[in-house]
Amino acid sequence: MPYTVPKLTDYSEAALEKAASECIEACTAESAVVRNDADLKSFRDRWMARKNGILTQINDLWLKGAPKAAKREAGIRVNELKARVTAIVEGARVTAASTDSLAAERVDITLPGVRRAIGAEHPIVKTSHEIVSVFQKLGYSVAAGPVVETDYYNFEALNFPPNHPARDTQDTLFIAGQQEKPQRERLLLRTHTSPVQIRTMEKMPPPIRIVIPGTVHRNDPPDASHSPMFNQIEGLAVDTNITFGDLKGTLDHAMKALFGSSVKTHFRPSFFPFTEPSAELYVTCFICGGSGKRGPDNAPCRPCKQTGWIEVLGCGMVDPNVFEFVKENGYDPKKVSGFAFGMGVDRLALLKYGVDDLQYFFQGDVRFLQQFG
Ligand code: PHE
Repeated sequence: MPYTVPKLTDYSEAALEKAASECIEACTAESAVVRNDADLKSFRDRWMARKNGILTQINDLWLKGAPKAAKREAGIRVNELKARVTAIVEGARVTAASTDSLAAERVDITLPGVRRAIGAEHPIVKTSHEIVSVFQKLGYSVAAGPVVETDYYNFEALNFPPNHPARDTQDTLFIAGQQEKPQRERLLLRTHTSPVQIRTMEKMPPPIRIVIPGTVHRNDPPDASHSPMFNQIEGLAVDTNITFGDLKGTLDHAMKALFGSSVKTHFRPSFFPFTEPSAELYVTCFICGGSGKRGPDNAPCRPCKQTGWIEVLGCGMVDPNVFEFVKENGYDPKKVSGFAFGMGVDRLALLKYGVDDLQYFFQGDVRFLQQFG
């Protein structure tokens, strides 16, 4: 029999106590079978609905019908009862909510699990790692430096004359609001990884053999072969008696390790403020093998513009003026010599994978990137 509210005739303490505990007992028993939101709603309505809920009935039958002398005592009882019933309904709500969410969260442990895709290296990162590891095998260590650089490290200590065009806003992305500072302290986005040559020589005395991978920025609008952000790998070797022959031998070895042993290298004179003499290194085109022509119908080879040669990096012997800036740390230009080189990783990755638009590397389209996984 479901609980119904009895009329009270006896308002003695014992009778009130009995009526109250019967009510609580019934409420507790009903709360125990609440399983879900629907149960909860009818349980709550039955007990707490303002119109004709059990608490309202108790209010009407027990309180309003109480004789004057018993009113106070009955009031206290009924209030207690309301608090108890409210607590029981709240308890049932919590149980119903957790039973519902437990059901929702139930997992079928017999199903096979979700296979998580293991990521792959981005083609540029992969190329960069390959190049770095070629030099690591020759005993080079890896160094790094900040992308936001000062004019001093990016230009001045690398022997760029004050009005060199590379300092021009055409190429360099300067940080705003630096005009108050002396020129050498002004901040910019490094335009090459060469500033890390100076930063490393300030920290480590010779002999030194390092490679420096990193991102650099130039004010170039993005197109199929340009990007305002790109990646370089710098190299620096300083010791006693380092010669241009060491530079040639090292880079020739590195190119063969990267592009295959049949690749030939070729140096052409060039200019960089921080190397003297300076050169550009060319390798035989690894698409057409150096012939400038492709396929059975001798189609013109595009990557090398039919020349058979591809420019891969800038290099040269460290200019003695550069050593002057780190002379205190053991780099006396009369005692040490060295070579440096810097290559564009993105361009090499483009050529290596036969990609025809540099922008694919930066758009993050998984359909493109998956091909390198
Ligand atoms: N820093 C030069 C550039 O970005 C490349 C370079 C590095 C040339 C080291 C010579 C020596 O173009």
